[in-house]
Order: sequence, then C-alpha cells, then structure tokens
Amino acid sequence: MTPTTRPLGATGLAVTELCVGTSPLASMPQLYGYDVSEERAVATIEAVLDSDIRFIDTSNGYGADGEAERRIGAALAERGGLPDGVVLATKVDPDPVTGDFSGARVNASYRESLDRLGVDGVPLLYLHDPERIPFEDAVAAGGPVDALVSLRARGLVGHIGVAGGPVELMRRYLETGVFDVVLSHNRHTLVDRSADGLFAFARKHGIGVVNAAPYGGGMLAKGPDAQSKYGYGERPGPLAAAVRSMADACAAHGVPLPAAALQFSLRSPLIDATVVGVSSPERVAQTLEYAGWDIPDALWAELDELAPSPEHWLG
Ligand SMILES: NC(=O)c1ccc[n+]([C@@H]2O[C@H](COP(=O)([O-])OP(=O)(O)OC[C@H]3O[C@@H](n4cnc5c(N)ncnc54)[C@H](OP(=O)(O)O)[C@@H]3O)[C@@H](O)[C@H]2O)c1
Repeated sequence: MTPTTRPLGATGLAVTELCVGTSPLASMPQLYGYDVSEERAVATIEAVLDSDIRFIDTSNGYGADGEAERRIGAALAERGGLPDGVVLATKVDPDPVTGDFSGARVNASYRESLDRLGVDGVPLLYLHDPERIPFEDAVAAGGPVDALVSLRARGLVGHIGVAGGPVELMRRYLETGVFDVVLSHNRHTLVDRSADGLFAFARKHGIGVVNAAPYGGGMLAKGPDAQSKYGYGERPGPLAAAVRSMADACAAHGVPLPAAALQFSLRSPLIDATVVGVSSPERVAQTLEYAGWDIPDALWAELDELAPSPEHWLG
C-alpha cells in the first residue's frame, strides 16, 4: 500500500501515516533481544528512503553515544543528504554520564544530534522521556522546556514535542500549552488503550498525535514466545495470554497478527502517524504490506473482546 500523507496536528507539517522508528537500529539487545550491525542498520534506512514512507523518528539517546543517529547520518551521507519531503524528527536526552537534563543540556543534545545526523536542523524536536526528571524542574525558568521553546522561537527547530510514557504526566506537559506534538508509546495497541484520553485532548487542542510502538516493542509482531517483553518490561500473565488468543483469532481469519496490530493504530481517527521499529530492509516492504492487509470487521470485534482490562494497561 501507499501510505497516505496527513497534517501533523496544526504544525503545518505533512507526514505519512507510517513513520519508521529507529531504536532497534541502535542495537539495544537489552530491549529487543538481538544485535543489529551497522551495515544492516544503514541498509534499513536506505530501504526506508527508497520507500513511500516519509517520516523517520530517532533520538539522541538511542544506543551508546547516539548510535542510531550516527547510523542514520551514515545512510544520509551515502544518499547525499536528506531527500526532499522526508520529515526527520529527533529528541533531546539527558547527558548519558551525569544525567543532567538542564536547559544547557537540551542545547548540547540538539547540537550533538545535528552533528551525528549531518543536517542543519530538524522540523520536529521532542523532549524525550521527561519522566526521568520532576515535572517542576522541567518547566522551571531556564529548564529544558524553556530551552526547547527558545530553540523554536529562534527558528533553530521547526516544532517541539514531548515524547514519553505515563499518560497523566504527558497530559501535564500538554497543558503547558507550548507543545506542538505528543508522542506516546505502547499505550494505544491491541492490548493497551491507556493513551486514548491523552490523544483526544491533543486532538482537541490541535496538537499532533504520534503513536509509537504499535507492536508493544515486538510482542505483537513476533508473538509472546519470541518476545516476552511488552513495553520493554517482562509482563507475564493476562497480557501475554491475550496476545496468544489474538494471534489465534487472527490466524482463523488468515490475517497476520502484526497486520492487525499495525492497523489498530493506523485506523484510529485520533492518530496522525504510527511509529514502527524495524531493523532490516525487508521489514520496510513487509510493514507496507501489513498496513494494506484486508481485515474483516468480524476480526476487529473479536480482538476488542479479547483486549485485557484496564488494570493490565501501562497507564
Ligand atoms: N519515548 C519515546 O520517544 C519512544 C518510546 C518508544 C518508541 N519510540 C519510537 O517508536 C519506535 C517504535 O517502537 P519500538 O521499535 O520500540 O516498538 P514496535 O514498533 O512496537 O516494535 C518493534 C519490534 O517489532 C519488530 N517488528 C517490526 N515489524 C515486524 C514484522 N513485520 N515481523 C516481525 N517483527 C517485526 C521489530 O523487529 P525487527 O528488529 O526484527 O524488525 C522490533 O523488534 C521506536 O523505534 C522509536 O523510534 C519512541
């Protein structure tokens, strides 16, 4: 299928509904259970650039010393730079040694990212996983949120977002009124609907909505036997059982589980773009195939019935 292009909230950016996420490309075996070589990572980004997907998500903090950004930068260098129309988003992270997440660190993180990626600027820069610091510190004068606002005001970055987990905290960030985009992960999937209220709030206020990790970091793509973690943590019991039942329901309809998991996000009217992590060139075509798979209404109803109750969601 050819992914449609949509407005990202009120930013004025046009993005494809599919975005490729690059944390697996950094080679993080503690999260994903396998290593990814630089050669494979670069080939994957080249396959993305050759596809109709026009949105790439990364972060200063993916892999040691920004390995994901370095690998993207290597692929872009081979292609003579970022092709027109590709939206490359990155995120600011704390200093990996000291944990400093001050306003000064935000500026340093952004400079590092530009250097690794080999670009002059990015259209979208997120505050990454702000659950790592107290909210009051993040929004204090001269703190990281102020630094992001200043980067945008000076035209050094197009738009600013907040990307993280706990939905109540994410909502507090949106209520500051300064963010253009929100990215939530693992919280709008076949087995977790925690982010729906957050997304509705964002939609109402013209904030772009990006839903990352539709496979829960892999369990909903590879199955719970191959990937026992959901949302990067061990989650035994009802959640894995629900995924097994969903895989059976999908198989009975001749639908691959990842096709349903991916389209569960793509079909939501609250979501502008869905970020899928992949780490091999073949996955790019496979992702597009799953995005276009014909899924009968009856299967959606069965999957809804099988969804775990809210006490099993990440929240
Ligand atoms: N706080 C944040 O800002 C935040 C948090 C989470 C995620 N994100 C972004 O969102 C992206 C997506 O999250 P994620 O990568 O953690 O999780 P995900 O997209 O839910 O799942 C990625 C995993 O699914 C596997 N996979 C993908 N397509 C598959 C297929 N067709 N068949 C079998 N396995 C498949 C990948 O395996 P292979 O490696 O084998 O392809 C990888 O192990 C990240 O890469 C990152 O860019 C941001």
